[in-house]
Amino acid sequence: MYVLGIETSCDETSVAIVKDGKKILSNVVASSLKFHKKYGGVVPEIASRMQLDSITLVAEEALKEAKLKLKDINLVAVTSGPGLLGSLLVGISFAKALSLSLGVPLLGINHLEAHIYANFLNGQNIKLPALALIVSGGHTSLFYVKDFGEIEILGQTLDDACGEAFDKVAKILKLGYPGGPIIERLAKKGNFKRIKFSCSETKRPLDFSFSGIKTAVLYSVNGKRLTVNEKRNIAASFQEVVIDTLIKKSLLAMQIKKVRRLILGGGVAANQRLREKFFNLIKTKDLQIYFPPLALCMDNAAMVAGLGFQLFKKGYCSDLSLGITTLN
Ligand code: KG4
Ligand code: ZN
Repeated sequence: MYVLGIETSCDETSVAIVKDGKKILSNVVASSLKFHKKYGGVVPEIASRMQLDSITLVAEEALKEAKLKLKDINLVAVTSGPGLLGSLLVGISFAKALSLSLGVPLLGINHLEAHIYANFLNGQNIKLPALALIVSGGHTSLFYVKDFGEIEILGQTLDDACGEAFDKVAKILKLGYPGGPIIERLAKKGNFKRIKFSCSETKRPLDFSFSGIKTAVLYSVNGKRLTVNEKRNIAASFQEVVIDTLIKKSLLAMQIKKVRRLILGGGVAANQRLREKFFNLIKTKDLQIYFPPLALCMDNAAMVAGLGFQLFKKGYCSDLSLGITTLN
């Protein structure tokens, strides 16, 4: 079964074709990132206008790479939320038009669930149930994944998302956007023991809060002009505490739900220090930890198409009344 997936929840316009939920035939991603850089974050109006301009070309490219024609497509799966409203609307409208004109079923997909599914695309044999931690520019969420389409949210951020905190700290340090990869690079040469930051406690132990640590970084800079070394130390200390918090909460959730498997996903899961520290857990604890390949950590339509196949097989389907959805 050939599923055409569409992802337009943030600044990317992505169309992919995945065979039987596993084999990626194409996964084309066009990003409007460079147009947002000077604003230090994604500007929704710019993102949706660029998506409107590029979605047809991206879809044509995805079909060409997959060596398929539109008539070969059996299902259209599209991210229906959460995300930027204007951006989601472009993807959903395009998907509806395709589904209607081709006479094939349509399926709305949750973006966070799709990030989890990115782990199932590269042949990793992951058994369910498992715990999932999605850390991206818009979300920081812990899920209990019983099966595809059967997920329970255990905790989420009360303020900034994890990637957003990386982006804001990078902005405070005048490093550019997106901040995650820049902070990671700087942190490699920094000493994380130099400065003591901490993440705020949350009333519900599986929730997250990152706005306090961002403010602590702002106060530590306090308008001073920093040396490169000082920036490196701040980046390293910030990154270390954030990763330790993610680990602490994931372990707690695994203990509560009595599962030994953890799946990670989202842009921040591309962070090498994070991967190293999570993998170190395997050595000391009896755990299985899975990461998607780097390219599938970021927003992409292959994860949408893949999950679309699994959910369709389980009987899920949308119709033309499909609107913007959230997880709850
Ligand atoms: O999943 P994603 O592509 O888009 C959303 O759904 O939000 O994630 C983008 C986020 C950005 O905040 C970016 O700074 C962060 O992921 N990110 C990273 C790294 N690469 C991307 N954060 C930390 N370390 C990285 N290497
Ligand atoms: Zn995402």
